[in-house]
Amino acid sequence: MTTHGSRPVTREGTPAALAPDYVRRIAPYVPGKPIEELAREHGLDEERIVKLASNENPRGPSPRAREAIVSACAGITRYPDGNGFALKTAIAAHYGVEREQIVLGNGSNDVLELATQAFLRPGDEAVYAQHAFAVYPLATQARGATGVEVPARDFGHDLERMAQAINLRTRIVFVANPNNPTGTWIAPSEVKAFLEAVPRDCLVVLDEAYDEYLEPAQRSPGVSWLAEHANLIVSRTFSKAYGLAGLRVGFGLMNAPVADMLNRVRQPFNVSSVAQAAALAALHDVDYVVESARLNRAGLAELGAALDAMGVRYVPSHGNFLLVHVGEGGRVYEHLLREGVIVRPVANYGLPEHVRVTVGLPEENRRFLAALESALAPAR
Ligand SMILES: Cc1ncc(COP(=O)(O)O)c(C=O)c1O
Repeated sequence: MTTHGSRPVTREGTPAALAPDYVRRIAPYVPGKPIEELAREHGLDEERIVKLASNENPRGPSPRAREAIVSACAGITRYPDGNGFALKTAIAAHYGVEREQIVLGNGSNDVLELATQAFLRPGDEAVYAQHAFAVYPLATQARGATGVEVPARDFGHDLERMAQAINLRTRIVFVANPNNPTGTWIAPSEVKAFLEAVPRDCLVVLDEAYDEYLEPAQRSPGVSWLAEHANLIVSRTFSKAYGLAGLRVGFGLMNAPVADMLNRVRQPFNVSSVAQAAALAALHDVDYVVESARLNRAGLAELGAALDAMGVRYVPSHGNFLLVHVGEGGRVYEHLLREGVIVRPVANYGLPEHVRVTVGLPEENRRFLAALESALAPAR
């Protein structure tokens, strides 16, 4: 040990050891394998690779969003509007909220992070379900807070037990509806009853990344609960049904005092000007989203029927993906890769016997089914 001024300096260990232990213990998020990487590793033609690993919209962005992206490129020498005035105005009108109730994020992932950054400190707890979206435990741990995982019921959230897991240290409860990677969904009446049961000084982050894919009658009224629930944050994204995952734009809807806290820890320019312009155009292209949801339901039905015919089990899904029981998830994932089909292994979600497949275009779904058939053949 030496000293630097009056400050003791430890010379042992590596710079990495200087990170707090709760950061060093983080198991990093594992994204879907990029097409380019698989092509490189297996010497495959990129054109022949089907990526069904990250729950993206296989149709891509709407033509209106594409046009907006091209136009916005002319202005990229300037910083974006850090307050996102135009996009927030449009979101406010769309959801019937005030601009002050909106926090824009670099994807909705950013909104989840901002909530933990603003509200969690070491010693606090955050509650989430087993098999829930991986970012909840990650963001919790990055703040030095303690994650409390509540066992799933039939792959979905057990809201009763989640409410019971809340104690005086709990600051945030995460609810994904529909949930990724299981595709499970909770009826609004149950979510509302849960909200009533949560103490008012505990935030509820209701992650509705896949809401646009639900049947119209099932769409969440979550935003309308904000008036009565000062502790609610509803997060939404342009990455899924709107087809803009690569641009990174999402948002949270909440009461203004909560938004104020998230905005204090937000990077001033966290959403690029191109992303804001694209999201604004995409929000107005309602038909595109409706058609994407319709095609997704058709794709889910086709995949389900084919898997039924193969005798393969899966969890009925309300998202744009399907959790498929394949027995040995790791082996099947590798086999599919060799056939140029990228799905998502989910052992890190405590689901080693499953893989998650995103609903693709009809031809992509067929490629997946054919590859799965061959992957499962030797074992049958
Ligand atoms: C349930 C859920 N929430 C949030 C996200 C974050 O998406 P994004 O940051 O692209 O909005 C995802 C992405 O897969 C998700 O599945």
